[in-house]
Amino acid sequence: MTLLSNFVVAALVLSAFALSNCFYMNNLSDRITKLVRSVHAEPNKSIAYERLAIANPTETHNKPSENHPESFKETTNYRDDKCTMAPQSRFDCARDRVLSKRQCEERGCCYAPLPNSVGPPWCFYPSLYPGYKLGPLTPSKRGLAATLTRAKPSYLPRDISTLRLEIIEETTGCLHLILKDPSSQRYEVKLPADVPKSRADNSDVLYTTEYQSDPFGFIVRRKSNGRTIINTTVGPLLFADQYLQLSTTLASSLVSGLGEHYTSLLLDLNWTSLTLWNRHMAPHAHANLYGSHPFYIVQEADGLAHGVFLLNSNAIEVTLQPTPALTWVSTGGILDLYFFLGPDPQSVIRQYLQVIGHPMMPPYWSLGFHLCRWGYTTTNTTRKDVQWNDLDYADKQRIFTFDPRRFGDLPEMVEEFHRRGIKYILILDPGISSTSPTGTYPPFDDGLKRDVFIKNVTGHILIGKVWPGPTAFPDFTNPETRQWWEDCIRGFHSKVPVDGLWIDMNEPANFVQGSMEGCPHTDLEDPPYTPRVVGGELNSGTLCMSAQQRQSTHYNLHNMYGLTEAYATNRALTKVRGKRPFVLSRSSYSGIGRFSGVWTGDVRSDWEQLRFSIPAVLQFSLFGVPLVGADICGFEGNTTEELCVRWMQLGAFYPFMRNHNDNFNAPQEPYVFEQEAQAAMRSALNLRYSLLPFLYTLFHHAHTSADTVARPLFMEFPTDPNCQTIDRQFLWGSSLLISPVLEQGSVKLTAYLPFGIWYNLHNGQPFYSKGQYLLLSAPLDTINVHVREGHIIPQQDPALTTTASRRNPFFLTVALSAGGWAWGDLFWDDGDSLDTYKTQDYCYVIFTAGQSQVVSDPLMLNGALDELVLGGLQVFGVPSPPRYVLANGEKVSDFTYHSDTKVLTVTKLTLPMSKVFTVQWAL
Ligand code: NOJ
Repeated sequence: MTLLSNFVVAALVLSAFALSNCFYMNNLSDRITKLVRSVHAEPNKSIAYERLAIANPTETHNKPSENHPESFKETTNYRDDKCTMAPQSRFDCARDRVLSKRQCEERGCCYAPLPNSVGPPWCFYPSLYPGYKLGPLTPSKRGLAATLTRAKPSYLPRDISTLRLEIIEETTGCLHLILKDPSSQRYEVKLPADVPKSRADNSDVLYTTEYQSDPFGFIVRRKSNGRTIINTTVGPLLFADQYLQLSTTLASSLVSGLGEHYTSLLLDLNWTSLTLWNRHMAPHAHANLYGSHPFYIVQEADGLAHGVFLLNSNAIEVTLQPTPALTWVSTGGILDLYFFLGPDPQSVIRQYLQVIGHPMMPPYWSLGFHLCRWGYTTTNTTRKDVQWNDLDYADKQRIFTFDPRRFGDLPEMVEEFHRRGIKYILILDPGISSTSPTGTYPPFDDGLKRDVFIKNVTGHILIGKVWPGPTAFPDFTNPETRQWWEDCIRGFHSKVPVDGLWIDMNEPANFVQGSMEGCPHTDLEDPPYTPRVVGGELNSGTLCMSAQQRQSTHYNLHNMYGLTEAYATNRALTKVRGKRPFVLSRSSYSGIGRFSGVWTGDVRSDWEQLRFSIPAVLQFSLFGVPLVGADICGFEGNTTEELCVRWMQLGAFYPFMRNHNDNFNAPQEPYVFEQEAQAAMRSALNLRYSLLPFLYTLFHHAHTSADTVARPLFMEFPTDPNCQTIDRQFLWGSSLLISPVLEQGSVKLTAYLPFGIWYNLHNGQPFYSKGQYLLLSAPLDTINVHVREGHIIPQQDPALTTTASRRNPFFLTVALSAGGWAWGDLFWDDGDSLDTYKTQDYCYVIFTAGQSQVVSDPLMLNGALDELVLGGLQVFGVPSPPRYVLANGEKVSDFTYHSDTKVLTVTKLTLPMSKVFTVQWAL
């Protein structure tokens, strides 16, 4: 075969299930001709040919040079020619193990040492490294399909030489590409509870696809500007039983996602690798943490964005390099890839969430302030203030029991909380104690009878060790387990009517490696390649990989343990309480936002962790988990008063707000600090509580439209290059900009304000930004929050609990645009019933300001707003003092105007929220 023919590429522009397929080619080999013919042979298919200029970064190096005419055969020199790519464009050929020069060349790879051992690989693939060959693409049930074959197996054990490729156009912006083994039933991820499918619209897709036939590779381009989004021709596709690999170039170096890791919002592409393998591990750099989200989003140069999701739950390692490029390696399953073309960042997230599911609608009360610690050792200490209990409550640390001595009156305490309008949440660990004498611990006895526990390879129950000692682990992929779990929750709830459940240690964590008996020596425990994981082995800190679950081995399912538990817990709480469930999970996988919130685990009480909590929260927003927060004031170690104040201020803007502390640490409840600190914390809390109607409305949009709640600036201002990297500030929705202090001793900070008018939420002071940094004053009692021009924020006077706050009068903060306009909305329901959006038991009101008036427009009114009133409003940006103010046409006397800030404040209104209202001011 000539070198040139290796470049023959078939480009396919697919539209509605290949109804009009176009092949672009520059040199028709027999192979491609066949491919085209086979598609031609199908009736009703029209095929166009065009020359293809393929964007291959290695192209120049691969082209036959004058010294290497087209007919040049494979020789050492030829290989040398294929090895001359720039170091940053090398793709590692020795990822799975260290190779000597000889071993490297035996793989057919290039060996070229560099001065540094870190950075570009020394052993790397030549361009056009032999791989799979694409067979004819033919129409299939869901799109197009083809067979890939390789002449010689790769260097990997149990290589799979024939693959099936499926290409599916899901929607206009979503392309779905599957590579699997047609001859065996390999494990494929099944997300719990089918994700509701929205009506597919693939009429005018945003992408084009091109296929390189030999070696197989594909390119996805943005149709509007031809930009290469994906190009896998730069490295080989490898597909062996326990090693799958795919490389691609990246359209820019602005990549976010691939959690859960302790990183900034933008990932470091300087030869780094990220492992996705759920692990109980306090957040720190270069470690695989509690969750796995094989999804990334790329900000393109002109403000457009795209995303990629690899639906695979095996251990995954992603290598990032400055090319810019990325390599996925998975230890099993199939390559099930989704490409989301946006074209803007928020659309990318919407498209991703169409695949993994929209987030749940949280109960209103769960947006309040939660107080917790490990070490509230009795109901008496808990009674002080708290709404949560850690494992302290459980008798011998066994879940579904409570200690009769220290927590004997737990049921009464919870009833008392409920009378006071306080909710109560407690912890559940999945490990079920397995050593209590028979008949004394029903969850285990019953679980045994119902066969709900994960087994080891010999079919016996796998016993690990967690807080209560030896424990069995429920297999939540088994429907019977979910029923048993529900029965346990129902039984416990009949005594202790908890309002929500906190599911911890669900990676699952295990204090012995694999099991009390160790693990068998198999390829599952010790695969040919183990990604870089904390502990060195896949079963470190968790169960044996060979453990048997209903759906598959733990090897395949490990990353989904927390997700499956969250699903079971959400379902159980829904059935038992008949109200909207609240679940908070530590471990996570793509799609968990449908069932649960997430907290970021055992963060340390220090300034660095305070700062990194922002990108952590923002990343979960990208992953479809809007209900997220870090442990305020830090979990591990003792906090300081100043740190705790600053953390409460930032935490007041975590979508999920909880102060939680480790056992034996100095207390950090707000009331333990000096008056000044308490006052600062109280003011942050009041601010949050006043904003709850706005926050709740954002959650409604997340639930119904897959919007983000805590939002990175780049999402809202994608064409502003300054916003690409910002992760020390963030937005709530599109209109509130939060700029917290993140450094010890600081009473000032430099914050970026994107183009436009931004009003200080505290006093309405406007700032006309050209898109610039501004030095803001931030004394200890202040967190800077700015409202964006053109927006109306619905608020309520704050009270001590969310229940009491909800009954208070509303007020509107109206931030007028330069032209005097603003818009806002409010979603309101009873805050606790199931599926109110579906059953239409809600109110939805739009507020519009313009021409010196604010008008409400209730689009949907179903009960919940009855008896609630608008008590007032503050209008920012009113150019001159109003002569008078009218509310529903009647003059009001309670208004003030500040000429310095240009703020009009109207108070003491009693306008029913369930009716149209108008507030006018005459200039
Ligand atoms: C680990 C959790 O991350 C932490 O929040 C909890 O307090 C402890 N387990 C004890 O249950």
